[in-house]
Amino acid sequence: MSRGPSTPWNIFIAVAATLGAIIIPAHVVGSRDLVPRFLWYDILLNIIFLADLVVRLQHRGRRSGIPGWVLYGADILAVLPLHLLTGIGGLALFRLLKLTRVAELLVEWRHHNLQRWNVLRLVYFIYWMGLCVHWLACGWLELRGVAPGTDVWTGYVRSLYWCVSTLTTIGYADNMPSTNPEIIYSIMVMIFGVATYGYVIGNAANILVNIDPARAGYFTHMEKLSSFMTYRGIPPELQRRVRDYHRYVWDNRLGYDEESIMTGLPPALMTEVMMFLKRDVIQNVPFFATASEQLLKDVALVMHPAVYMPGDLVFKKGDVGRAMYFISKGEIEVLDGNGARIALLGKGDAFGEMALVLDKPRGATIRTAGYCDLYRLDKKDFDDILRRYPEFAVHVRQLTRLRSRWKLPGKS
Ligand code: CMP
Repeated sequence: MSRGPSTPWNIFIAVAATLGAIIIPAHVVGSRDLVPRFLWYDILLNIIFLADLVVRLQHRGRRSGIPGWVLYGADILAVLPLHLLTGIGGLALFRLLKLTRVAELLVEWRHHNLQRWNVLRLVYFIYWMGLCVHWLACGWLELRGVAPGTDVWTGYVRSLYWCVSTLTTIGYADNMPSTNPEIIYSIMVMIFGVATYGYVIGNAANILVNIDPARAGYFTHMEKLSSFMTYRGIPPELQRRVRDYHRYVWDNRLGYDEESIMTGLPPALMTEVMMFLKRDVIQNVPFFATASEQLLKDVALVMHPAVYMPGDLVFKKGDVGRAMYFISKGEIEVLDGNGARIALLGKGDAFGEMALVLDKPRGATIRTAGYCDLYRLDKKDFDDILRRYPEFAVHVRQLTRLRSRWKLPGKS
């Protein structure tokens, strides 16, 4: 599929279209001094829009959801110098159709930057409001004209002032419409102002609340959790630990569970994502030093994240071995039956493999020394990997025998 013009080009065109949307109405309303050397700007815009039309025709393909005929129709109308050919200055306003590119850019950004979508919506709203206020001020300047003894810029600033005070329904009575066209124009601006006001009230609060949906979701969940725990009379100390756990998960992973957030991806893409997330851990484990890329991918797919709190017992000596673990973050203590420390393991280390390989109960107790991010590899997946990669199975058995004999690899 054609990818379309690159984003920097789209941004450039959107900026050019915006400049056009500012200077063309200011010129068309008749206050020509507002835009000196307009013809040059107009020619420059014409060249840019023409170049854009050529670029777009080369990259045909629908990317934005806006129908093709609207986009190309707008592009063609925006590029035709109708006002120069006919001498009707108002036809220059067709250049404003190029603003469809700004709308298109927003759609494109929405797909690429969902995280900032609400901020973008807010910026977009302010952008359109700014343009509308400018257009309405230009219209008022056209109707009212420039007061005798003042220059056109003063006239524009006064129009802007009138426009903002009318739109915001403040309406100081110092700039009253006097002619019928002025009164009708004022009525339209007031209606527009009230409608926009309604829209702002309805949407801005919603946008602001949702600027960070993950954070909002986290706090909502924490509130529910707190009320539930209080309602069920869970002891304060236990409540604190539950809250601490969520806080830790939030601080370290924005509260996202990497497995559920990625569900639904096609297998190949899922493998790539999981490899990216877990490669650091898998590659640092001496356990996988000899493993092939394919084996690492297979392991990455079946390793499950698990967070432990300080002082948690991952398992106890004598327990049945159901999984082995890899340390992604934090430290764990290997304790003997009396609670004495045999070893301290950290990032990149693995533990719990002996019970699986030797088919024996756990030979030591594992306790976390702080918050720990682990990856768990269940016994059935572990056995499956050993069965499918016999050379790796030999390597693992050798390592395990070494560890059980010398009780060494940990940093004790
Ligand atoms: P397992 O016996 O399944 O459960 C306890 C785990 O502690 C064990 O597997 C090893 O992974 C780990 N372990 C045991 N002894 C040591 C040691 N001396 N150094 C590091 N890790 C150890």
